[in-house]
This record gives sequence, structure tokens and C-alpha cells, in this order.
Amino acid sequence: MERIGIYPGTFDPITVGHLDIIKRALHVVDRLIIGVALDTGKEPVFDLPMRGKLVQQDVETLLGPEAARVEVRTFSGLLVNFAEEAGAQIIIRGIRAISDYEYEFQMACMNARLKPDVETVFLTASEDTHFISSRFVKQIARLGGDISSFVSPNVAERLKAYYASL
Ligand code: COA
Repeated sequence: MERIGIYPGTFDPITVGHLDIIKRALHVVDRLIIGVALDTGKEPVFDLPMRGKLVQQDVETLLGPEAARVEVRTFSGLLVNFAEEAGAQIIIRGIRAISDYEYEFQMACMNARLKPDVETVFLTASEDTHFISSRFVKQIARLGGDISSFVSPNVAERLKAYYASL
């Protein structure tokens, strides 16, 4: 049976930390759906179509032939419903530090109660990306700092343009 995974997130914007998890998730699943979420409880800088577009562009540019096993989709509503509708058995989440653990553990348990058939699998963030957060990337970009080691050149350009337009 084909193993389908969902890697959900806000991706506001996608960072090299997310890309690291995406590449490594492809060792675990046959096909990966990146689910760019509308309902996240956050107030994103980029709207949903733009977040999806930036993820798609990074996947195509930076993943090489492996991109063929990845599909980028946006979704609204509950993650577990999206997973079921997509035929996914696994939710992939990256864990960066102890501070992520509590939130991720809670979310995994809530999702397990809602849909016991869907398993959450955690991948630990790589040591060279585990400190990255989209929130800090945006703050650095807003204040004119160098974000080139945190995001792709495409995303860096978009963020720069966004803050220049304010
Ligand atoms: N390396 C570096 N940074 C990483 C990373 C990695 N491997 N993985 C995640 N991050 C960072 C992100 O940059 C982001 O930083 P920020 O908090 O500063 O913005 C943070 O970790 C977490 O972001 P992300 O991975 O995008 O997840 P999220 O917590 O924003 O997304 C959803 C949460 C989308 C999974 C959740 O809101 C959801 O499921 N929504 C749908 C509605 C639903 O089902 N709700 C019920 C949930 S129980």
C-alpha cells in the first residue's frame, strides 16, 4: 500500500527548516502532501494562495527530481479531515526543541482522538536549522537584516518587497 503523508503548517513563509523536514519526510513516506493551512490561529503576513505558491516554488526549485513525489495543497478546516480526504495515514511534524514538544504533543493527542487511524510522526529538526522560526525571519526582514541563510532567494525577495511596500 502506498504510504501517504501530510506535512501541515502555516508556512508564513516556508523556511530552510521546513525544507529540511520535507526532504527527510520523503524517506518515511512514498508521497508527501504539503498542507498549507488557512485555520492556524495565527495572523499571517502572506495570504493563503501566496503561502502555497511560495511553498510550490521552493519545492520545484530546491527538491530536484524528488519534487515528483510532493504535492502542495492549501486547506481550510480540520487537519484530520483534510488528511482523511487526501487518503493520508500519517501526519508529519517537525520538532525543534523541548519548547515545541508540549504544543506538538497536545496537537497530536487531539488529532488522534478526532481520527485514531491517522498517526502523527515527529521528525527532529536538523542541528543547522532547529533554531529557525518564521516569526523571527519576518522580524529580521522587517528590520532590514540578512535572511538569506533562513529562506530561499525567492522567499527573501518576496519578504523584502512586502516590507518595502508598507
Ligand atoms: N525547522 C525550523 N523551524 C521550523 C521547523 C523546522 N523543522 N518546523 C517548523 N518550524 C517553525 C515555523 O517556522 C513556525 O515558526 P513561527 O511559530 O515563528 O511562525 C513554527 O515552527 C511552527 O510552524 P508550522 O510548522 O508552520 O506549524 P504551525 O504550528 O504554524 O501549524 C497547524 C499548525 C497548521 C498544523 C495547525 O494549526 C492545524 O492543524 N490547523 C488546522 C486546524 C486544525 O485541525 N486544528 C486543530 C489542531 S489540534
